[in-house]
Amino acid sequence: KKKLILDVDTGVDDALAIMMALSAPDVEILGITCCHGNTPLEKVLKNTLRVLKACNRLDIPVYAGCSQPLLSNKQHASDYHGKDGLGDVPDPDAPGLELVQKKNGVKALIKMVKQNQGEVTLVATAPLTNLAVAVQLDPSLPKKLKALYIMGGNIESRGNTTTCGEFNFVADTEAAYVVLERYTCPTTIASWEFTCSNSLPWSFCDQWLSLKTEKAAFMKNISCLSRTKSQSADYQKEITAGQGFNACDTYALAAAINNSLVTESEQVAVTVELDGACTRGMMVLDYMDLLKKKHKVTIMKKVDLEKFKQMLTNSLK
Ligand code: BDR
Ligand code: CA
Repeated sequence: KKKLILDVDTGVDDALAIMMALSAPDVEILGITCCHGNTPLEKVLKNTLRVLKACNRLDIPVYAGCSQPLLSNKQHASDYHGKDGLGDVPDPDAPGLELVQKKNGVKALIKMVKQNQGEVTLVATAPLTNLAVAVQLDPSLPKKLKALYIMGGNIESRGNTTTCGEFNFVADTEAAYVVLERYTCPTTIASWEFTCSNSLPWSFCDQWLSLKTEKAAFMKNISCLSRTKSQSADYQKEITAGQGFNACDTYALAAAINNSLVTESEQVAVTVELDGACTRGMMVLDYMDLLKKKHKVTIMKKVDLEKFKQMLTNSLK
């Protein structure tokens, strides 16, 4: 079985990524570490437990990681994911936070990787604070990983949070920098523009969400607000405008569990702009090798959409 650790800031697309991992037959989730991001850490924890409950998998350990970025100003994406981070639909039966593991998320991450050296695929779909702190505490961590998949950053300097910045990289820019510098394990990145150009037509979503299962009903409920938002006038200048549902985090997860899904990619050294007046948080791609970095990451360009849709369908069955 493929061993995964998910590092999440459970909003709507993280929720779907978790559901996809749970539905994959040959995958074992060692644990889910939570980070501040779409919503404050406490709500991320609650949302993660809600997703696990909806899938009847509260046996999976959930850990609390960092509640604040290293240096960036704290920010959340409540406009899109809702004030509660999961579409603001009331859930009176949400599991309580007593189900969260006592061990700190960053320490748990280090321990799980150590106990499964060379076997863990880490999928990060949140601001990268937990990963940055983990590598500070254990510099040998990247060497012990099998692979790292990240949803974040830009490839064409089109932002969704600042002019040039994608949310996960803006919400903790220093952490993104540390991770891209220090994680020299095989790394694959699903950037914002990549996810936009591979988004799902609304007609597919209608059909997909009408599956007669509890998981589909849950997903339909929590994604209602973000759908309304992305079809609203406010979002008409986004790249996604008019294109459909962009479940960003799911692409990183899908590639982590089935790499044959990626039909086009490129290898390039990357870093993150820390200082730019307009460009702080932007991912920089060094196509000319001027930064002389040995480590290259895989930048996802295209996926097999039919396979991806099949995986999405399985996630809600
Ligand atoms: C990323 O930011 C969050 O809002 C999403 O969950 C995703 O991880 C997209 O920019
Ligand atoms: Ca996320």
